[in-house]
Amino acid sequence: MKITNMHEITSDEIAAIATRLYRQLPEMPDGTSLRSLPAAQQVGPPASTGGIPAGISPVIDVPTAAVVPPLQSAGIPSTLTPGPAVMPVLMAAPAGLRPPVYPFDVVNGGNATPLSASGLSDSEFSRGLNANSLPITSSRTPGTLPFSESTASASPPGLSEASDGKDGLRRFVERIRVEHTGQSSGFCHQDPLLQGLRQKLSARIAADLKSRPFDVHQIRRDFPILQQRVHGKPLIWLDNAATTQKPRAVIEKIKSFYENDNSNIHRAAHTLAARSTDAYEAARQKIQKFLGAGTPEQIVFVRGTTEGINLVAHTFGRKYIGEGDEIVLSTLEHHANIVPWQMIAQENRAILRVIPVTDRGEIQMEEYQRLLGPRTRLVALTQASNSLGTILPVAEMTQLAKRAGARVLIDGAQSVAHLPVNVQQMDCDFFVFSGHKIFGPTGIGAVYAKSDVLESMPPWQGGGNMIRDVTFEQTTYQEPPARFEAGTPNVADAVGLGAALDYVGQLGLANIASYEHELLQYATHQLSRINGLTLIGTAPEKVGVLSFVLRGHREEEVGRRLDQEGIAVRAGHHCSQPSLRRFGLEATVRPSLSLYNTREEIDQLAEAIRKIQHR
Ligand SMILES: Cc1ncc(COP(=O)(O)O)c(C=O)c1O
Repeated sequence: MKITNMHEITSDEIAAIATRLYRQLPEMPDGTSLRSLPAAQQVGPPASTGGIPAGISPVIDVPTAAVVPPLQSAGIPSTLTPGPAVMPVLMAAPAGLRPPVYPFDVVNGGNATPLSASGLSDSEFSRGLNANSLPITSSRTPGTLPFSESTASASPPGLSEASDGKDGLRRFVERIRVEHTGQSSGFCHQDPLLQGLRQKLSARIAADLKSRPFDVHQIRRDFPILQQRVHGKPLIWLDNAATTQKPRAVIEKIKSFYENDNSNIHRAAHTLAARSTDAYEAARQKIQKFLGAGTPEQIVFVRGTTEGINLVAHTFGRKYIGEGDEIVLSTLEHHANIVPWQMIAQENRAILRVIPVTDRGEIQMEEYQRLLGPRTRLVALTQASNSLGTILPVAEMTQLAKRAGARVLIDGAQSVAHLPVNVQQMDCDFFVFSGHKIFGPTGIGAVYAKSDVLESMPPWQGGGNMIRDVTFEQTTYQEPPARFEAGTPNVADAVGLGAALDYVGQLGLANIASYEHELLQYATHQLSRINGLTLIGTAPEKVGVLSFVLRGHREEEVGRRLDQEGIAVRAGHHCSQPSLRRFGLEATVRPSLSLYNTREEIDQLAEAIRKIQHR
């Protein structure tokens, strides 16, 4: 059986996966042989059936209450012990209801447990196994959060690094791995079914874990850089729109890659090359899932948003945007989403059209519609403005562009760390982002592109990795994404980006968005009470960017004085000059928020600004 859609799992799939598990697992961790159990408790089919085991109904129709114990009541359990050898989700009730039976009964409930090396603790995975039966018997929606690799050594965000026992599910998994794959680490990499099961369950578990409170003080402990002092004051990092800080999970992942797996990818046929190729491709898959893309082949690694937009401009743009054609941009764009299009427009004699914004910094939708026409080839929009914070209605704007027959590129540099993104729902043709804006390393990012357009695009840079065959007469190219990844890629940072997406996935972007929204409201209120301070960009839909000017003080001076208080903000044009000039400005001071910022930090910012003003 091939799992095609990782976001949904059917009872048939669970049954078939568990059948496979059963076949691979002669014993449970406590030494109980599955096959010696009484028939009623066995889950495996006769070897000949090959499909769903006898006694397992593909449709689990047992009422939820009868099958699943209350998940929340016991909190997150700390220890697991082996229980009877039956997968809970397989417990059909041919003869009426029966009590739940789990492979690992949960004991010692109550304490928060650190996640295991799999990104989910035994108990959480077990809890997820339990939870997994819920959607089958009820209408709970699955989460769509990414799978955490088993080899990651990360603690869960916001949780301490307490020791992780080897009991329960993890040992169970290790046993399968060692006995059946011979691998000393990882989660049964050679078994896609097992991986698939875990992947799907991870999404469910992550959805379930959304109930975990968002503890900003715990989260801050994940970021070593935040623990320092600057000019004798605790560092307050409010320059997140420029770059975000990195959690220990990302730092450790990169370190571990260089210590254990480093190799060039694809070419060499040795163990480390295989490992680093796997790690690189696993990171691609994580990005695919994170963006809701259809396949990993739609994801091209680049250095960041700037390189991504340049790639699209120099391939798609050069080929499809000709003389008299139009490119529509908004006033709010970063220079990275202006200059490459200007270059192509100059080269191919195309025309740039610019959507105006209101005094609050919102897109003027009627003007936008007026700009769309039969010559519009591309609409290129930022999803969130880096200078004002405005969130653009990109899904609606994409629909309008489609009606005009135009392709759409979304610059996700300022949105990915703050808003859930789904490129298929958005229906954009291209989506570009940088890893460093979402707790990942610098020098790595990605372009998502729809398959039809990606396949039709010519290569940009030439060299290794992107070729199929080279003679002095001619070269043939690889299919995407390799066609656009010339040269040795940034493998370690791609792996680091994967870890960053895991980190964000464990916290849940919906949780992050809601926390940051509340913090933004608080900060807006606190700053707008300061005499002489004017906020620039007051759209109702914003990410946590608070651009302001302070009467009587130059922006650079305000930035320097805040730095003396240990507060890092950006002061300047933020590489978005047209958006500031719309407000008659050349610069603003720009504090920008992230998930680790607190109300106390906002209070200190407000106090520091007042101090500057009164001096
Ligand atoms: C909206 C937007 N687009 C593009 C970029 C460019 O990103 P990078 O410098 O990572 O390529 C930025 C960076 O600040 C940005 O905010």
